[in-house]
Amino acid sequence: MIQLSNISHTYTSTTGPICALNGLNFYIQENEFVTFVGPSGCGKSTLLHIVAGFVRPTEGTVRIQEEPVLRPGRARMVFQADAVFPWLSAQQNIEYGLRHSGLSETDRRGRVTGALTAAGLTDFATKWPRELSGGMRKRLELARAYVSHPDIWLLDEPLASLDYFTREEMQVLVHNLWRSANSTVVCATHDLEEALFLSTQVVILTRRPGQIKEVVNVTFGSERTPKIKLSDEFVTLRRRLLTLIERQQSQ
Ligand SMILES: Nc1ncnc2c1ncn2[C@@H]1O[C@H](COP(=O)(O)OP(=O)(O)OP(=O)(O)O)[C@@H](O)[C@H]1O
Ligand SMILES: [Mg+2]
Repeated sequence: MIQLSNISHTYTSTTGPICALNGLNFYIQENEFVTFVGPSGCGKSTLLHIVAGFVRPTEGTVRIQEEPVLRPGRARMVFQADAVFPWLSAQQNIEYGLRHSGLSETDRRGRVTGALTAAGLTDFATKWPRELSGGMRKRLELARAYVSHPDIWLLDEPLASLDYFTREEMQVLVHNLWRSANSTVVCATHDLEEALFLSTQVVILTRRPGQIKEVVNVTFGSERTPKIKLSDEFVTLRRRLLTLIERQQSQ
């Protein structure tokens, strides 16, 4: 579904060029949940912005179903920073995602109601973002991406800055949204446990400039509840990821 071919990216800055990514080749199959993990600054956000079409790589090409990505539009992104509009209510924020959809008023309303329900926000539809907790604002961001039924989601640290309990609850929500939407997800996170819980594949990146170090297939079934984090299989895979990352840091 998504083909990354020889992707490199160098930013120009006042202090000189910064090479963020170097020669990434990877193929993401349809309906997979692929998470890129790696140290801060290794180019995870850059990679997602390239797949979204916000940034043109200095080298290489991203293709979605064979079509080169030349501009934004195909994939919906949930950004690392809080990106809801403070001047719109929860419901209006969600509806904003449908502004170019060409859907009728009735269909739009149906979609918004569906997204509010899926994200557990039905009782908060008319609230302003400032009246929502951090966890609810994250729900709102997810609902805003979900409402347009995208076939590709890009999640950049979607649950960072949440407390442990909210994060755990939201991991289940992200998993359920992915399953119900039948979509393909490309995600970036620092959190190994989260990467394992959510993904079908975890890609470990090296320090900047990011290169693919290792790809780990996650073999649990598709039904995921927080209980699986205690299973032998989960603990073994977590240990394997940690070892791979530690080995890379000592190199
Ligand atoms: N617009 C920009 N201009 C110049 N340099 C940039 C720009 N955006 C990112 N960088 C640099 O590129 C490198 C990769 O940044 P990026 O945000 O992709 O990393 P990341 O892996 O997402 O980090 P984090 O885990 O902290 O979110 C960093 O060194 C960063 O300083
Ligand atoms: Mg980032």
